[in-house]
Order: sequence, then C-alpha cells, then structure tokens
Amino acid sequence: MLKRIQISPERYAVITLIALISVVTIVLTGAGVRLSASGLGCPDWPKCYDQYVAPAQINAVIEYGNRLVTGVVGIAVIAASLLAFFRRPFRWHLAVFGGLLPLGVIGQAILGAFVVYYHLPPELVIFHFILSMILIDAAYALYWCSRYEPGVRRFSPDRLGVWAVRALIPLGQLTILLGTVTTASGPHPGDHNSELVRRFTFKGQDTLVWIMQRHAAMAVAFAVSALIVIFILRRQGGDRRAVKPVAVAFGLICLQISIGVTQWLLELPAALVWVHVAVATLHLDRHPLVSRSRRADCEAACHQLMDPSEHSHRLRVENLDELCAHGLTDLRSDAMGIARPG
Ligand code: HEM
Repeated sequence: MLKRIQISPERYAVITLIALISVVTIVLTGAGVRLSASGLGCPDWPKCYDQYVAPAQINAVIEYGNRLVTGVVGIAVIAASLLAFFRRPFRWHLAVFGGLLPLGVIGQAILGAFVVYYHLPPELVIFHFILSMILIDAAYALYWCSRYEPGVRRFSPDRLGVWAVRALIPLGQLTILLGTVTTASGPHPGDHNSELVRRFTFKGQDTLVWIMQRHAAMAVAFAVSALIVIFILRRQGGDRRAVKPVAVAFGLICLQISIGVTQWLLELPAALVWVHVAVATLHLDRHPLVSRSRRADCEAACHQLMDPSEHSHRLRVENLDELCAHGLTDLRSDAMGIARPG
C-alpha cells in the first residue's frame, strides 16, 4: 500500500515551499508576540480564557495566533520530512535535510521552554533567534535543492566569484548576531509577568548606543562587500549568473539599513522594529546561495545536448534559442523526443 504512494518532484517542491513559508511565519508571529508584549496574552494552555477561539483582545489574539501557527509549522515540517521518502526519484540528501527540520522545531520547543522557565535571559533569547534563522536556512536549502535534479545545474568555473559570494554569508550572520545583541540591550527584550526582563548592560548606560553603532557599521560593511562581489562577478571571465541574486541581496541590505536608521531616529517604535525583524528573515545572506539563473542552466544543458563530443549521437535541434525558451523541464522532454542516432 505504502509502496504505491508516489510524489512527483514538483509536488514535493510545493510541500517544501509550504514548510519554508510556515517556518518564516513562526519567526514573524514570535517577534510579534514579543514586540506587542503579548507573552501572557492567553493565561491558560492549550485553550485561551477557557475557549477554543481567543477573545477579541489584541494580546490574546496575537498569542493564540502564534500557537496556531506553531501547530501548522509542526505539521508542515513533519510532512516535508516524511514525504521525502515517497518522492520519486528518491534523493537521500532531501530526506536528510527534511529530517533536520522536525529536529530543529523540537529543539526550538525545548529551548523555548527554557527561555520561559529562566525568565527570558538575553543569552538564551539570542540563541533561540539564531536557531530560528538556521531553521529558515535549512528549510530554504531543502526547498532549493528539491527543485533541481542532480547534475542539471552546471558547476561554476569562476572560483573567485564562488568564494566571493560565499564570503558574504558570515558577514550577514554576524550582522544578524549583533542585531540580536542590540535588541537584548534595548527597550524590546521581551517582558515576563509585565516586567521588563534583564538586559545587557556591559557598557553601562551607553550599552545600547555602543552595540547599535557596531551593528550598523557591520551592516554597512555587509552592503559594501555585496557591491564589491557584484563587481567581481561582472569582471571579464566572471560567472554572471550570480549577479542578479547578489544584486537582490544588496537591495534588501540597503532596505534593511534604511529601516534600521529610521527606527533608531524614531526611538524604536515596536511596529517598525517588527518590520526590521521581518526583512531579516527574508533572503539577505541566503540569496547569494541562489547563484545560478534558470536561463543559464537551460542554455548550459542545451549546449551539452548539442555537443557531439559529449554524445555518441548528434542531436538535431533546429532552433537552440526556441528550445531553451521552453524551460528546463520541457527542454529535457523535448531533447528526449528529438534525440536520434546520427
Ligand atoms: C543588513 C542590515 C541589517 C540586518 C540584517 C539587521 C538585522 C537585525 C536583527 C536580526 C535584529 C534583531 C532583532 C531581534 O532580536 O528581534 C536587529 C535589531 C536592531 N537593529 Fe538591525 N539590522 C541591519 C541594519 C541595521 C542598521 C543600519 C541599523 C541602524 C541604526 C540597525 C539598528 C537596529 C536596532 C536599533 C536594533 C534593535 C531593535 C530592538 O530594539 O529590538 N540595524 N537588526
């Protein structure tokens, strides 16, 4: 019976996309709970004020909404991990990535319990946030990998370009880490029983300004580095496939910088801080990973199919551009259809 269940790569990619969206959503609703001081919006669990529907009160709705999203995340990541075994063709590394997601969610649940039990110590809250970023990375990697079969995408010959793109990742992670330390030193570290929790004060009264300046300087360094990487990729002999995703990442970093500066000038209104967190969950450092455009892959695959030295037979393709325009999936079936021994 189980053997008869088969999931196509396209359908499995949709499942992984749902898992990714749900993991991002839980970070956003979690930040919403903290920034609106809704941590105890529902005093009981699993019901809220002894009802299955939260009463029309903003804190209760936010807290209860966060609980519901947690349930959806659980179902989505379990589906992504189990259904990897029914995907045909089976790919073991999708099963491994898929298996990591429920483990990460369980880890977050345990860590979250500790965070509450110890009354939101900043170190644990930071770890909780970073772990959720890693979960988003894993969900994104799963979604990304599930869209391509092995060998379909050609490797980049531009080693300098590849390493320049990779070098952006730690810069992005460091910027986010400094951001969480800034939060832990500021007015929105979360509250417990309506009392603001312990904050970082390692520079006394100046801690918030001191760490915010480092965080902002790191963000600017991240933006400048992304710009340099674009020039590296655009140089003669560079692999231009990554230019577009890095340019998108650069745009997002600039947007984030403008939000960061604005929220600082406006003395950190909670709603704007939420937007700052929301943009941080968007690709940013993850975007450069998407370093190959579909069109380029398609063309590479086309040329490989056309190359008589790679095949014992010559493929008769009338119009290469037209064929490439079909996209990768159609391209493969087209190529199979027109492939004839020479
Ligand atoms: C690439 C650019 C940036 C990224 C990725 C980024 C990311 C983050 C993250 C992840 C947080 C922590 C959120 C949390 O723990 O809930 C944060 C907090 C913060 N960021 Fe940024 N940030 C960037 C740029 C900036 C800039 C340029 C400023 C300029 C002043 C800034 C000011 C702040 C402040 C003040 C906080 C603390 C907000 C609070 O009270 O919670 N950020 N940032």
